[in-house]
Formats: sequence, C-alpha cells, structure tokens
Amino acid sequence: MNRKKKLKEIVSLTRTYLQQEKDSGVKFIRKPGVSLQSARKKQIENKKLLLEQFSSSVLDCRKCGLSKTRIKVVFGQGNPEAKLMFIGEGPGYDEDRQGLPFVGKAGQLLTKIINAMNLKREEVYIANIVKCHPLKDPSRTDIRGNDRAPDPGEIQACMPYLLKQIEIIKPEIIVTLGSPSTKTLLGISGDPSYDKNSSISKIRGQLFNFKGTKLMPTFHPAFLLRDPNRKKYVWEDMKKVMNILD
Ligand code: URA
Repeated sequence: MNRKKKLKEIVSLTRTYLQQEKDSGVKFIRKPGVSLQSARKKQIENKKLLLEQFSSSVLDCRKCGLSKTRIKVVFGQGNPEAKLMFIGEGPGYDEDRQGLPFVGKAGQLLTKIINAMNLKREEVYIANIVKCHPLKDPSRTDIRGNDRAPDPGEIQACMPYLLKQIEIIKPEIIVTLGSPSTKTLLGISGDPSYDKNSSISKIRGQLFNFKGTKLMPTFHPAFLLRDPNRKKYVWEDMKKVMNILD
C-alpha cells in the first residue's frame, strides 16, 4: 500500500473510532497521562476561546442590509458549555444598544422563565436567528417599537453564524422562541415529523430533531407579554425541557 493510501486508511479508521466513541456517549478523548479534570478544563477553555474568536469575526459583518442601520451586532450571550440554548428572532431596540440578546421587556420575562427553571441566565446560551436589529422604518433608528421580523434574505445571510454557534456549544436541547426561529430551524432540520404548515400553537411543546440535537418550540416571551394567558403553556413546555436536562 502506498503512503497516501495508508494515511487515508488511518484517517478513516480514526474517524470511525471517534464516531463510535461519540455514539456511545463519550464527550471527549484525552491524551494518555492527562488527568480527566485538566482535559475537561482545557476543553472548556477551547470552547470559550473558539466562541470569542468567532464572535469577533462577526462584529463587522456586512452580509445584509441590516448592517447599515444597526448600532451593535448582537452575537449571543451565555455559557459556552450550556446544555440549554434559547433562540429568538432578532435584536430589538434595547438589544441593539447594549449588544446583548433579550435585555428588553421580553428579555426580562425570558430571564424569569429561566430562573423558574432553577437556572441562571449565565448557565444557558441565548442567541437569535439574525444578529442585527430589523427595522420597519430604517430611517428611524431612534424610536422604540420600530421592529419587524427578519426577512428570508436576512435570515439566510445570518444563518451560518448561528449554525456555527450551535456546532461549538453543542447544547443538549434548543428551545426556539416564537414562529420565525422555529420555522427557520425546523425548515432546515430534516426532521420528517415537521410539517412546515403547522402553526407555533400546534407544535409548541413537541420534541423535534435538529441535526442530531433535540429542539422544542415554544411561544416567544414578547407574545406572552401581549397575551399573559399563554404563560401556562410555556411553563408546561419548560417542565418538559427540565425533565430532559435532568
Ligand atoms: N426578541 C428577540 O427575538 N430577540 C431578542 O434578542 C430580543 C427580543
């Protein structure tokens, strides 16, 4: 066998071995002589560094028109080791100014939901399907309530960023908040049980498969602010999430 062929075979065997380890629940492989604790510490540091480097590369993004009016890119916030990841629609007025997701009124409600799950915001990861503030009237960056849902072109341009974040964080479960993030992620999930015509009211609380990661849609906190009677449904959904995480 020539050298190139031999190398190819080694790579293929290693890949198969690593996949088998992964499938049997092994989270990382350490070098002989390295303690489990220090290997784990290194893994956490690597993930943190990867996310930080990635976030800096996104801060000057010009891939869509939202970059013309944004104040700050809202990359995402939270624990790189999070088991639970929340994904919303897009930054609003407050998020655009602070550069952080879910910090306005809807965000305060999301924080309450997270705390009711016996978790802290710092323990989960929060992101959006687009990283810049979509404005109804782009000439009025200075007013509140000038928000809209991101359009398909904006979502498509921004999606690689979110996919990469998910790939780095590797959450155990993703909770999509509201219709745009649910439809976007389930639309590319390949999960055959997802019917793209079903409304968020119909599919909330159901467990889907997003490229190997569990995904549960629920109502958006901004919707709950408009219709507090629906809070009980979100709580039902979050109890299921807590069971999965336990
Ligand atoms: N709504 C969202 O969907 N995301 C935010 O970050 C804030 C409000």
